[in-house]
Amino acid sequence: MPRLARKPVTWYKKSMSKIKVLDLFSGGGGSSSGARAAGAKIVGAIDAWNLATEAFKENFPETHVVTGKLEAVVLKQLRQKIGQVNLILASPECTNHTPAKGSAKRCEASRQTAFQVVRFARAFKPRWLIIENVIQMKSWKGYKKFIAGLGELGYHIREQILNAKDFGAPQTRRRLFVSCDLEQMPPEIRPRKKRKMKTVAEILDPAGTWEMKPVFIDNRAPNTIVRYLTGLNKIGPHKPFLLVYYGSDGGGGWQSLDRPLRTITTVDRFALVDQSGKEPRMRMLQVSELQRAMGFESSYKLNGASRRDRIKIVGNAVCPPMMEAVVKKLTQKRRTAKRSNRSTKSGEAIRT
Ligand SMILES: C[S@@+](CC[C@H](N)C(=O)[O-])C[C@H]1O[C@@H](n2cnc3c(N)ncnc32)[C@H](O)[C@@H]1O
Repeated sequence: MPRLARKPVTWYKKSMSKIKVLDLFSGGGGSSSGARAAGAKIVGAIDAWNLATEAFKENFPETHVVTGKLEAVVLKQLRQKIGQVNLILASPECTNHTPAKGSAKRCEASRQTAFQVVRFARAFKPRWLIIENVIQMKSWKGYKKFIAGLGELGYHIREQILNAKDFGAPQTRRRLFVSCDLEQMPPEIRPRKKRKMKTVAEILDPAGTWEMKPVFIDNRAPNTIVRYLTGLNKIGPHKPFLLVYYGSDGGGGWQSLDRPLRTITTVDRFALVDQSGKEPRMRMLQVSELQRAMGFESSYKLNGASRRDRIKIVGNAVCPPMMEAVVKKLTQKRRTAKRSNRSTKSGEAIRT
């Protein structure tokens, strides 16, 4: 008897078809791409950076996109424009929390923009909120007040630290996710089981696509040579590898291609070293490759901006597969709300 073809699993997409999303600090749409992949509809997005909102519009032509500061948005007008929403996504400005800023002075006014999430949540009262940020946001002196503000609106809140590599993105990227639900304690998000992690080798464009230059040229920075030699010593003389071209690096300044990529930042950072020819050659990773390392779908378009700005848009983003997993889990119907009220290894149930 011929085997019956399996139907694709689409139940969650059907149940999600009514979920409307407002994306705050929407950037170029990493979070929204993940939510859309989970079946949600993105009805509104707001970001102060015009290049990011241009990228957003290109990828979400049906969304009402506002270019401007959240502080300046008149909520009543926005409400009239987009109607009710079920889910707010928010990645508050993180450059003043992240260690990537080094010892530079932090701007408290910028950190305070996180409270815009409370203002928008109060006005829209969506059933769900998902707030994403660097882990260091938890050490901010305003963090408790921020979480308390959400709790006062009636949300049950769960904090988790998740790693993009556990959700199908070829990148090690640990981020804080705060999930909020007005009706019950948000579920624990668990890593995908028994799947091989994606690696750097899988994000690379085919050999020959991009020009490579010799590693040993006169004006090459001594630090680059040291990092090349470290990689060479560890990996041997024929295999390709990555070296950290810009910035400090606690991992020796190099990495093999058979692991997920180290965390992408908002600036050019990694170079591919090819040792297959007579002399070692290298080139920077390209935007297309960084997009893949973030887990963007191949249909995601990023045109118009300079290479530097495209790298910033990509490096600023939330990995779509992570957001997809969080949205799916948070919004799926659950029968056993009781079990998920406990604190867990990777996260904390804050209010039950
Ligand atoms: C971490 S990025 C957001 C990434 C986005 N969620 C994504 O996945 O692509 C933070 C964004 O906040 C924007 N931003 C910072 N302060 C803002 C403010 N006061 N109002 C609106 N947008 C702001 C920045 O322009 C930046 O694009």
